[in-house]
Amino acid sequence: MRGGVIGLWGSIIVLVAFAVGGLGRAAAEDTFKIGLIVPMTGRQASTGREISAAFKVYMQQHGVTVAGKRISIIVRDDGAVPDATKRLAQELIVHDKVNVIAGFGTTPSAYAVAPLLTEAKVPGVVMGAGASDVTSRSPFMLRTGFTMAQSSVVMADWAAQNAIKTVVTIVSDYAPGIDAQNSFTSRFIGAGGKVLDEIRVPLTSVDFSPFLQQAREGAPDAAFIFVPSGQVMFMNQFVERGLDRAGIKIIGPGDITDDDQLPAMRDQVIGTVTAHMYSAAHPSALNREYVAAFERDNDFRPNFMSVAGYDGMHLIYEALRQAGGNATGDTLVEIMRNAKWESPRGPISIDPRTRDIVQNIYLRRVERQGGGLYNVEFATFEAVKDPVTEIK
Ligand code: DHB
Repeated sequence: MRGGVIGLWGSIIVLVAFAVGGLGRAAAEDTFKIGLIVPMTGRQASTGREISAAFKVYMQQHGVTVAGKRISIIVRDDGAVPDATKRLAQELIVHDKVNVIAGFGTTPSAYAVAPLLTEAKVPGVVMGAGASDVTSRSPFMLRTGFTMAQSSVVMADWAAQNAIKTVVTIVSDYAPGIDAQNSFTSRFIGAGGKVLDEIRVPLTSVDFSPFLQQAREGAPDAAFIFVPSGQVMFMNQFVERGLDRAGIKIIGPGDITDDDQLPAMRDQVIGTVTAHMYSAAHPSALNREYVAAFERDNDFRPNFMSVAGYDGMHLIYEALRQAGGNATGDTLVEIMRNAKWESPRGPISIDPRTRDIVQNIYLRRVERQGGGLYNVEFATFEAVKDPVTEIK
């Protein structure tokens, strides 16, 4: 579970640790340490692979020195097990004396670390956790990823306006899934739609067929589905169970047509409409540059987790630069909560009140483009705030 130091990062970290050990205190003070806790193993491993790859791209483009400080990344694998995340965060704070903790591949992992960040006054940059209440768990937490509710309400509006009258929802049974289900349902019913059944699937399930059968029996116009990234088998089982042939459309947040997994999905996913904050096919110059840099080093495509990691690095670099290098956690958070910049996904900012991401949500349709399957954007909802914390 505890991955320790990983691959290429290993050599960077060992070198930095070595230099610090050899040169003593002065060198330690010249180093700015970012602890990156992500799942590199287990079912959520694609999240760790994507975010750590994005860190490397960012550092290749922007260097390893900011405001006179040498940036050191310490990567830890939590396997998406919250107790492990907590133990690793504790070690990074107490033993390694990190300046920032980044990553958090799942909501339960982010919840587990929030109290530690508050106590140690260490900023936490959340990249992979999607429940709405995550940043409310610590005044030191900020989010560069997404919330499930952001894309679920956009999906509900589109469904209601596009002849989808009845829906069955199927979600993974934990906080982000429940957020997706509740925000979709209330918006869709408000727009005149009907939800026939609300199904929750244990997070550990690999066999979705009983749930798909249950959805099929209701004969809805569409199934709204959330499963966390990395679960390509879900989409393939949807096709195997013949739900597509039964005329049941599949809709949901973009996690179900994750760019990391899309190349391994069957052609039957063509036409699937989802709502999300990032597509590798986003047609901007900045994104094309990002995708090209990413694909030069990796044999997989950047997904939404990767862009959350890339932008998280930008948030940390810029805060350190603006703070002039010598920064307490309080100062860094103060700068970060007012940040606004252009990302490969489009314009983004941090909401100063909630420390949460404000971003465009795009409607996309899976199409074959240049030989591969891609989420091709066809409509944009600008500067969407998390709808749950927005009304509090
Ligand atoms: C979460 C994890 C995911 O992999 C994802 O795609 C969405 C949300 C989460 O645990 O919050």
